Amino acid sequence: MLVITFDPEQFNFVAAGDESYFLLRLADGSRIMFKDRCAHRGSPLHLGCWDAGDNALVCASHQTRYPERALRRQGVPLIYRGGRVTVVLDVVTAPGEVRLVRKNILAQPDNPPTDSSGV
Ligand code: FES
Repeated sequence: MLVITFDPEQFNFVAAGDESYFLLRLADGSRIMFKDRCAHRGSPLHLGCWDAGDNALVCASHQTRYPERALRRQGVPLIYRGGRVTVVLDVVTAPGEVRLVRKNILAQPDNPPTDSSGV
């Protein structure tokens, strides 16, 4: 088990050993940290998109859907207090194997939708 505290304005992605996690900020302002691996075939979920109509994250590879309520239920334990996020990750790693990163989380609900047709 690994407990990490960080500023969510500075970082939104944690790489810990072989696992990685991304942070989503939902429409109500709450935050969820979720494992960056689709349950179907392992694609990185942060590269998916947010379907505002269904209130669900959609995997970019084969469109498996993760409704918001499932994300809330299956996300890693997270505490947001004083402008900082503390997460509890179910990984065992050496301290040097943990990296905090800022990424473009395409699945972020307030990201504009992308058009894969290129038009
Ligand atoms: S890998 Fe995500 S739907 Fe297939």
